[in-house]
Amino acid sequence: MKNNTATLILAAGKSTRMKSETIKVLHKVSGKYIISFVLKAAEAVCAKAVPVKAGIHQNKISDIYLVIGHQGGILKELYKGRYNFVEQKQQFGTGHAVEAALKKIKGNFENIVVLNGDMPLIEDKDIKDLLDYHIKNNSDATVLTVDAEDKTDFGRIVRSASGKIEKIVEVKDANFQELEIKEVNSGIYCFKLKALKLALSKVGFENRQKEKYLTDTISYLVKNDFSVDAYVSENKNLAIGINTRVDLAKVASIINVKKLEEVMLDGVTIIDPANTYIHDDVKIGSDTVVNPFTIIEGKTVIGKNCMIGPFSRINSSVIGNQVYAENSIILESEVKDKVTIGPFAYLRPGSVIGSNVKIGDFVEIKKSSIGNNSKVPHLSYIGDSVVGEKVNIGAGVITCNYDGSEKHKTIIADNCFIGANSNLVAPLKIGKGSKTGAGSVVTKDIPEKTLAVGIPARAIKKLK
Ligand code: UD1
Ligand code: CA
Repeated sequence: MKNNTATLILAAGKSTRMKSETIKVLHKVSGKYIISFVLKAAEAVCAKAVPVKAGIHQNKISDIYLVIGHQGGILKELYKGRYNFVEQKQQFGTGHAVEAALKKIKGNFENIVVLNGDMPLIEDKDIKDLLDYHIKNNSDATVLTVDAEDKTDFGRIVRSASGKIEKIVEVKDANFQELEIKEVNSGIYCFKLKALKLALSKVGFENRQKEKYLTDTISYLVKNDFSVDAYVSENKNLAIGINTRVDLAKVASIINVKKLEEVMLDGVTIIDPANTYIHDDVKIGSDTVVNPFTIIEGKTVIGKNCMIGPFSRINSSVIGNQVYAENSIILESEVKDKVTIGPFAYLRPGSVIGSNVKIGDFVEIKKSSIGNNSKVPHLSYIGDSVVGEKVNIGAGVITCNYDGSEKHKTIIADNCFIGANSNLVAPLKIGKGSKTGAGSVVTKDIPEKTLAVGIPARAIKKLK
């Protein structure tokens, strides 16, 4: 016998408490959408077929359903082709959302896992443990609960004198005694599909919010002698769902601490974890030191033996080994080995810095490549340029890449020496081994091995 399971993720809500134009599951923590953490955990469970005594329990990515409503179009676009979507046109509560979804689910599932989309601290282990427990006990419904220190907005688990779960009471409907209960509903459930369908058809809207609560299916099933269980999770973090920006900050900080510990255990020195922010997808090589007030974002990869920060921000970039980047910003760029950047350098998207290069203080590089062993040590703007190898760019050199309507390219070949304060008016090519005098304004191409000086610059000498 095969025991198939569908997974339902609720993400249709308006997220009133976020006070935002954007629904909460599309807010980001650690550089990623909140919903993506839930989806990742749900997928990871699918990757593991769980053997149970009755046969094989199967749970497939193709059986993940996303319940969408507000801004559902964005979610559809983001995950099209990967998951199934069901629309909950009007949002009348979590029970209403599940009911709408069940009408659309194809296939004959024995069980269904239901997850709130607003809990990025969920781990695949939480879902898998719940599922295993539910299947082992052949229950009709199992709720994953947490003994929470900070219970705030969570539904309280009411148990009978004998310890069996009786019902879940929402905060807005709870009495003083119930509010004291520490055990809360994580928002992760496993149901037998048949039992859930029946219960939802019986549950009404009799509560303070006039919504159809998914949680009310529990008391219905208990009262009607179905087997219902509450499984206590050890992952205390599950008791933080995101409802407000306060929750968002809490979760971001937990994920950050976890990430810092991970990289430290992998051999990276973090001088001041309280003032260092590293996104979940970042990779850093061993013996790299990250100094305080540094933010490393996106899918950035940093090599070994680097010194990053203090006061640096790196977003979605690939950094080689032995790179120094102090007090600098590097965005969507590539930096090869043994490069020194900063202090106060700004690498804008699309820059490629060759190995053994120095990008010094107050230098801005935009969408340009700098060849191996070249130097841009001080006060320069290099935009839309291709700079060759062993080039020295003097202090204050500017590529004038914009004529007011269009951007133009500057090409500086290998072994050039660009004098301090030269203005290079693009489009422009400077041939191999050429030089410009200090303060020149170069408006015409310079051939190979030529010295050009003045305003506008003229070739005055052939170089050896
Ligand atoms: C819910 C639970 C509560 C639990 C908490 C855990 C109910 C009634 N309460 O409360 O017991 O402790 O989660 O985080 O279920 N959604 C829809 N359609 C709707 C309403 C909500 O798709 O009509 C989605 C939301 O987008 C969200 C999820 O369901 O992702 C949970 O909704 P939310 O309003 O955050 O529920 P809580 O009040 O947190
Ligand atoms: Ca919530």
